[in-house]
Amino acid sequence: MEGLSIAHIDGRTQLVGILGYPVAHSLSPEMHNAAFAELGMNWRCVPLLVHPDKLAEALRGIAALGFRGANVTVPHKVACIPYLDRVTESVNIVGAVNTIRVDGSDGRLEGFNTDVSGFLTDLAANQINIGKDSRVVILGAGGAARAIGAGLVRSGAHITLVNRTVERGLQLASFLRSSWEGCEVEAVGLEELEAVTREATLIVNATSVGMFPHTDSSPWRDGVPFPKNAVLYDTIYRPLQTKLMRDAERSGLRVIGGLGMLIHQGAAAFEIWTGRKPPIDLMRAVCLKRLSEN
Ligand SMILES: NC(=O)c1ccc[n+]([C@@H]2O[C@H](COP(=O)([O-])OP(=O)(O)OC[C@H]3O[C@@H](n4cnc5c(N)ncnc54)[C@H](OP(=O)(O)O)[C@@H]3O)[C@@H](O)[C@H]2O)c1
Repeated sequence: MEGLSIAHIDGRTQLVGILGYPVAHSLSPEMHNAAFAELGMNWRCVPLLVHPDKLAEALRGIAALGFRGANVTVPHKVACIPYLDRVTESVNIVGAVNTIRVDGSDGRLEGFNTDVSGFLTDLAANQINIGKDSRVVILGAGGAARAIGAGLVRSGAHITLVNRTVERGLQLASFLRSSWEGCEVEAVGLEELEAVTREATLIVNATSVGMFPHTDSSPWRDGVPFPKNAVLYDTIYRPLQTKLMRDAERSGLRVIGGLGMLIHQGAAAFEIWTGRKPPIDLMRAVCLKRLSEN
């Protein structure tokens, strides 16, 4: 099997998919297929464009067709939950699924969330320790902020959510407080950015502002100084370096982009499906190549 080419497919090929709408931009097929080939595994990952109205059928379909699992992306991460047979604790703490495993014996669907571990693993890989003295500001209150917040509240850090729509931030703060006793979470609007970031040790951009093709945008308000000694983590990975990262770096902050989170969530999904550890460096190289072509 060693050195099996990606193009080779036969009657024993095992399939995983990535369900999204749209899905053409996804790096997951290339990342996983490179890892399968490197490990000599007769497995393939295929993109599956699934309209929201067809999600239930698609999920029944992947089980019926003998898929081993799937990644789930926007807009299906929450919508898929009612159609799964069981979910792990990682799903309960976020309220969203990004990975499904199909049980080989009975075709049952089990949901996981590897965005949380993907983010925390990448923080650790970058030697960023989070504890009760950490003051984390998360920009955004959507799906990514939910996963990041869920991971961070368990570390004892003080968390402030800064979101354009304050109500959505308040709802997420209340969800996080109810999920972890004693955690310190508050939510404010964008106009309070300067006040809440003054003492920040970590700032995480979990908004979509600055993402391709709007690469000249930044969620940071003009005129607000960056806090000294904070680390800036931008979950965006397309482009690899966002305007926010460039501006923060110019102000002396250490900056980290979202590619590591993407790789580590993918690696965790790979392990859930196959029981094997994927070649992380290869997955990173494949994504870097693709992203630097764009
Ligand atoms: N690295 C990774 O592995 C990874 C994984 C998941 C997501 N991400 C990244 O995370 C980002 C967010 O994804 P998501 O799934 O959380 O999206 P989402 O659920 O749609 O949330 C988008 C967030 O961005 C805010 N936002 C959008 N446009 C804005 C604007 N013009 N000004 C201010 N705020 C704005 C929204 O604020 P409102 O609530 O006010 O609308 C909301 O908080 C994306 O860039 C994605 O690439 C990365």
